[in-house]
Amino acid sequence: MENLIIRQVRDSDIGEIKNIVRAAFDRPGKDQYFNEWEFVDKVRNDSGFIPELCLVAISDNEIIGYILLSRALIGKNEGLALGPLAVRPDCQRKGIGKRLIEHGIEKAKEYNFDWIALTGGDYYKQFGFESALVYGIKLGYNHPENPYLKIKFLNTNKNVFGNMRFCDSFYDENGDLL
Ligand SMILES: CC(C)(COP(=O)(O)OP(=O)(O)OC[C@H]1O[C@@H](n2cnc3c(N)ncnc32)[C@H](O)[C@@H]1OP(=O)(O)O)[C@@H](O)C(=O)NCCC(=O)NCCS
Repeated sequence: MENLIIRQVRDSDIGEIKNIVRAAFDRPGKDQYFNEWEFVDKVRNDSGFIPELCLVAISDNEIIGYILLSRALIGKNEGLALGPLAVRPDCQRKGIGKRLIEHGIEKAKEYNFDWIALTGGDYYKQFGFESALVYGIKLGYNHPENPYLKIKFLNTNKNVFGNMRFCDSFYDENGDLL
């Protein structure tokens, strides 16, 4: 897409971002409070939040995409979790998600993080994300999302393994993951 700008999120963007994230993620039966669009606001007060790694894609002065990278742990090793990632439904499959991910990866390298992990499908393989289970990285014993956990190493040290922990905002009061 032409004229796409990617920049750090500003306070005044939050309402517009929530609308986009909701449009991308809302499904019948979704929890009213613990969901991706309420998370957008909540995570900003989390110690795992890094303002420079919370980004929006803008075209014609409208926000059309959002990506967050936040602090995460695998064992005691700190890296980043990618997500949520959302593109406004009428703008999907035009390469905006791709641009946001590539930009996020570059920023993560700039800030010297060693790895980025996420839970997601095959879409992420094109960016070099691999199955985390292969490296002995999981969300917990028998966690249902373990098969979807993916990791991209940003340097040659792949000696990272153990349980992955997202920052606190990703968990509800029962400890269940967003
Ligand atoms: C997933 C999402 C962020 C992708 O963003 P997007 O801008 O639509 O995707 P892109 O146009 O950048 O896709 C880039 C490439 O991936 C491919 N692709 C897109 N969606 C895909 C999918 N679900 N699975 C596999 N490949 C996919 C595209 O064909 C494209 O390849 P191409 O350039 O060779 O045509 C967007 O569709 C979205 O917001 N979905 C709803 C929310 C969501 O599921 N977020 C991710 C949660 S893990």
